[in-house]
Amino acid sequence: MASRQKHENLKSEESSRQSEIAPAKGKLGVMIPGMGAVATTFVAGVEAVRKGLAKPIGSLTQMGTVRLGKRTDGRSPKIKEFVPLAGLNDLVFTGWDLFEDDMHAAARNAGVLEPVLLEQVKPFLQTIRPLKAVFDRNYVKRLDGPNVKKGKNKMELAEQVRQDIRDFRKNSGADRLVTIWCGSTEIFLQPTAVHATVKAFEKGMANNDENIAPSMIYAYASLMEGVPFANGAPNLTTDLPVMRDLSRRNQAPICGKDYKTGQTLMKTILAPGFKARLLGLNGWFSTNILGNRDGEVLDDPGSFKTKEESKLSVLDEIFQPKLYPELYGNYCHKVRINYYPPRGDNKEGWDNIDIFGWLGYPMQIKVDFLCRDSILAAPIVLDLVLFLDLAQRTAGLKGLGIQEWLSFYFKSPMTAPGLYPEHDLFIQLMKLKNTLRHLKGEELITHLGLEYYD
Ligand SMILES: NC(=O)c1ccc[n+]([C@@H]2O[C@H](COP(=O)([O-])OP(=O)(O)OC[C@H]3O[C@@H](n4cnc5c(N)ncnc54)[C@H](O)[C@@H]3O)[C@@H](O)[C@H]2O)c1
Repeated sequence: MASRQKHENLKSEESSRQSEIAPAKGKLGVMIPGMGAVATTFVAGVEAVRKGLAKPIGSLTQMGTVRLGKRTDGRSPKIKEFVPLAGLNDLVFTGWDLFEDDMHAAARNAGVLEPVLLEQVKPFLQTIRPLKAVFDRNYVKRLDGPNVKKGKNKMELAEQVRQDIRDFRKNSGADRLVTIWCGSTEIFLQPTAVHATVKAFEKGMANNDENIAPSMIYAYASLMEGVPFANGAPNLTTDLPVMRDLSRRNQAPICGKDYKTGQTLMKTILAPGFKARLLGLNGWFSTNILGNRDGEVLDDPGSFKTKEESKLSVLDEIFQPKLYPELYGNYCHKVRINYYPPRGDNKEGWDNIDIFGWLGYPMQIKVDFLCRDSILAAPIVLDLVLFLDLAQRTAGLKGLGIQEWLSFYFKSPMTAPGLYPEHDLFIQLMKLKNTLRHLKGEELITHLGLEYYD
């Protein structure tokens, strides 16, 4: 009996140690490879919110709440009051880009935010100038720019990024750092032996191995410096054994990949609904027009292939055709992206969904989403920065490597090897909120609810 009690005590000590969260003291430095539409909309937006000019709509960390205890308890604090997150006033920024524009000029070019708003945050945005990028046209064929690092091999470039990180830490006075990739989509690459171990990867960088893309060099440099890394593009970047290993070893959490905005957001909202009602699917055709730089990059078949893979994976994971062969065993899923400059960042995404119901009778659904890509992405960037920083301050999360609880934000959520990702937006949200409850020692919410009828 005494030994069982001792075991229970040990278990509860262990679990409270796991949920220890260091306070968010001092400044949080945000480092962004790729200062284009998404990055500038995020940073300009944070400054606009700080100045009281606008509201952080779409951000769970800023506006979301979390229910605690029973439905009758009436406890639903804001997430930012429930867990210790960095405040917006504590954020400082830097970034890398192959174009020399400061953040104000880059935001003007991106054309997402109105000039009137940008004018009000101009002095701040102009202070953020891009560091020289690690860039190679072989990985993003449609771009070329002058602000690029030189080195005799990829290892030297990684060393230069590491030095940038150390300099930023010192000069900005930041206590903690997070890197978030907002750079372009690179060509499609697959894991190879060079990505298998840290040793092989370092040797590969010294030998300029072509399987090592620039985004991987930033990720390596960040993780070596103990800095968490989020991957907003569909690139392989952190989806590699070497990065998982470095992340765990240096207690620098990682997550990815590909921000879930626009059409895929819609898919992961609608598809769980059809599945819940056991409506069958014959086909889902998705097409987009967009005219920003991202659209131009995706016009290259190599970069498009990377994006396509990320977008296609979503439906199979939600519909589980193996479990439901009669409903989802044979559907046709196509995704097209068309570069159409007149639209700029204001994308239009059409979906034609062929479903079938009772006795196999067919029905159609048409979705026409006139969305603003970067407006949907910016709050995701903010939340990821704040949650990754929280993860690194939390005893039970910082050594895990992949932060699967952040799947909510991604088109292709990273998971432990061998585990299928959860794509259903509502399950993802429940997972996220339950993780926060777990960290704070609150009861998890299962929605069982029998106790209300006792
Ligand atoms: N906007 C969205 O809704 C959304 C959703 C999911 C994913 N994404 C991804 O986020 C990324 C950014 O999107 P965006 O609309 O801001 O694109 P963008 O083209 O406006 O910005 C990308 C920036 O990255 C820079 N860049 C490219 N390679 C770089 C490198 N190696 N180092 C440093 N800078 C580099 C480019 O010069 C450009 O300024 C893209 O990969 C995109 O696919 C965007």
